[in-house]
Amino acid sequence: MDSRAISRRGLFGVAGLAAAGATALAAAAPAAASAADGPADGSLGRETVPFHGRHQAGVTAADQAHETLVALDLREGVDRDALRRMMRLLSDDAARLAAGRAALADIEPELADAPSRLAFGFGFGPGLVAAAGGVAPEWLAPLPAFGIDRLDPAICGGDLLLQVAGDDPLVIAHATRMLLKDAVRFATVRWRQRGYRRARGTVPDGTTMRNLFGQIDGTAGPHPGDADFDEAVWIADGWLAGGTSTVVRRIAMDLDDWDLLGRADREHAVGRRLDTGAPVTGAEEHDEPDLAAVDALGFPAIKPWAHIRRARGEGAERIARRSFSYDDGPLAPEDTGVGLVFIAHQADPLRQFVPIQRRLDELDLLNRWTIPVGSAVFAMPPGCDRGGYIGETLLE
Ligand code: HEM
Repeated sequence: MDSRAISRRGLFGVAGLAAAGATALAAAAPAAASAADGPADGSLGRETVPFHGRHQAGVTAADQAHETLVALDLREGVDRDALRRMMRLLSDDAARLAAGRAALADIEPELADAPSRLAFGFGFGPGLVAAAGGVAPEWLAPLPAFGIDRLDPAICGGDLLLQVAGDDPLVIAHATRMLLKDAVRFATVRWRQRGYRRARGTVPDGTTMRNLFGQIDGTAGPHPGDADFDEAVWIADGWLAGGTSTVVRRIAMDLDDWDLLGRADREHAVGRRLDTGAPVTGAEEHDEPDLAAVDALGFPAIKPWAHIRRARGEGAERIARRSFSYDDGPLAPEDTGVGLVFIAHQADPLRQFVPIQRRLDELDLLNRWTIPVGSAVFAMPPGCDRGGYIGETLLE
């Protein structure tokens, strides 16, 4: 028995029992009220995201609460035939699990019962495309070096990316394990990264997430369903037609130093308010930032070093961001162990992601509290139909 339990009992003598009963009743009342406010009937757990379709669900699905990324290195000698076998197995596992069914030979089938919007994405690194004898797009390579980078090679790159997103971390852990059980004959784990947002149901669906700086993060699109999403994200031709790219950056945050800043300075570092996420020149989260506006002294209202001014530039590059937080302890020498798993999808990282990252590398006040420690680029093939598998456009 733990010492806290003993000391609590010690506090409650016989004379304390009546008072304890009254406290228990009082405590029950708010619980009953909150149960009436929202569904606790398991319906969120039954929600599914279709696995099959033109695009991979991991790219298009609504923002789930949790995501696990695993990057693998192919074993020596894994060739095109072996890759075909592996991707057939992994696609079959993913299709079943996304539908709330057990994968073949799943010895814990109950863990597949409540899929909770489980969605999968598979990404190919340059090594996999080479092993398949395919032609890699020019951008499928490590990103150019940036001055702010403090990368640890152990948490960079990889031949195959498994991206498992959903609202229940238990279901994600099980699904990831099922995929790894089938992948292990072909590949070994290089790095893995878990990320999270608010628990589903605690805020209305569609609420933009907050990162660990407390900022509303993810307001500016494109988001799936927006008019400009398709053009920014989907590749038009070749074996990647209907697919996209994924850039992953593990970005450590220095929360202790950030804590020393006043609220106004924190808002000026980004150019948006902390409470509503509105630009400092606006009132609502989705108001357009007015980059030409000046303050009472005639200085730019959105500072020259503000993250949104630098990230936006002339507005020519669009990327679809879908980031998660992490606090799993340091993995690299300069990692604080707390930060943002920054994920961006775009048709061409060299034309879209890199110019933005270059501008931020040159000037962005947020650099003072953020350190990129991991980095990887993957090609995300298109989705597949029933009976097909992810990667068939490369491997058939
Ligand atoms: C830990 C690192 C980062 C933090 C804390 C962060 C935080 C934010 C916040 C709070 C916003 C404003 C709200 C929004 O529109 O989402 C924002 C916007 C944005 N960020 Fe970041 N960000 C980080 C890294 C990056 C990186 C690495 C890139 C790309 C290279 C990036 C690109 C953008 C873009 C394109 C916008 C939208 C700008 C606009 O058009 O308004 N961010 N970020």
